[in-house]
Amino acid sequence: MKQVKINGRMVPAIGIGTWHMGSDSAKQQVETAAIQAGIAAGAKLIDTAEIYGKGASETLVGQAIKPYKREELFVVSKVWPENATKKDLEQHLDASLDRLKTDYLDMYLLHWRDQVPLEESIAELDRMREKGKIKSWGVSNFDVADLEEVETLPAGQNLAANEDLYNLNARGLDFDLIPWQKERDIPLLAYSPVGGLNNNLHTDMLTNPVIEQIAHEHNASVYQVLLSWTIRDGITIAIPQTANADHMRDNIAAANLELTSADLAAIDEQYPRPTHKIPLDLD
Ligand SMILES: NC(=O)c1ccc[n+]([C@@H]2O[C@H](COP(=O)([O-])OP(=O)(O)OC[C@H]3O[C@@H](n4cnc5c(N)ncnc54)[C@H](OP(=O)(O)O)[C@@H]3O)[C@@H](O)[C@H]2O)c1
Repeated sequence: MKQVKINGRMVPAIGIGTWHMGSDSAKQQVETAAIQAGIAAGAKLIDTAEIYGKGASETLVGQAIKPYKREELFVVSKVWPENATKKDLEQHLDASLDRLKTDYLDMYLLHWRDQVPLEESIAELDRMREKGKIKSWGVSNFDVADLEEVETLPAGQNLAANEDLYNLNARGLDFDLIPWQKERDIPLLAYSPVGGLNNNLHTDMLTNPVIEQIAHEHNASVYQVLLSWTIRDGITIAIPQTANADHMRDNIAAANLELTSADLAAIDEQYPRPTHKIPLDLD
């Protein structure tokens, strides 16, 4: 299973996304089973956020991970930008820990950049790291210029990951951001790797005949090809979301699928590598 180093730990390159999960009590059993199917299949990294279902997603994750050894998992949550202040961040982190029923996060991300001065948010994230409530911190929806700014801050060298939208149909990051992160050994968490909720963002890649043919040749699904493509560079961890245990097993197993250089070249012909700067895609 392909692994990626994140904050000094090797974890499988496919993790578990949880947006839109936890809010509907009628679905909680199925959703818990899906998360647990992912862990049973080998996934370690689980991505959630305080904003997802106003905390309901963290509560669901807290329930789902209860039977497992906490130290074997890698739990990521995110602080809503306006809460990432010296005054409020710690109490929002405590509330997340409470919902997740854990006493630390493996990684805490600034969900995106907004009004609060970056220096204040980063200083507070780093203070939580020093306090031991989080093992590492990172950012999300940051482009290269924002990351360069983080680098200049006093605690900037502790930046442990960036999470951005990345999939075959939204591969602008290949131009500059992924090379930038690769050079510094900062992993990328790739969100919406199969095109977002109900695949509403980038549907054509799911029905592209060349991708279908590659899937057929590997006895794999189109989703597995898309995920394997996303994690091909060795620094990217894809975090697909699914509430379906079969889909989950399929997704996690994509970390075992190795695309050939001929596959990658055929994919590049369909979805060309960017040749100029493209602004970040956002979900
Ligand atoms: N940092 C940020 O700002 C940000 C933004 C967006 C998302 N995220 C994170 O990234 C995660 C993933 O992104 P996302 O939820 O936007 O999109 P995604 O994972 O690309 O797509 C999710 C959709 O794909 C379907 N799906 C997944 N695997 C499948 C499979 N093997 N077969 C068939 N359908 C499949 C799911 O439906 P089924 O349930 O029917 O399988 C769901 O509707 C989120 O859950 C969240 O944790 C972060």
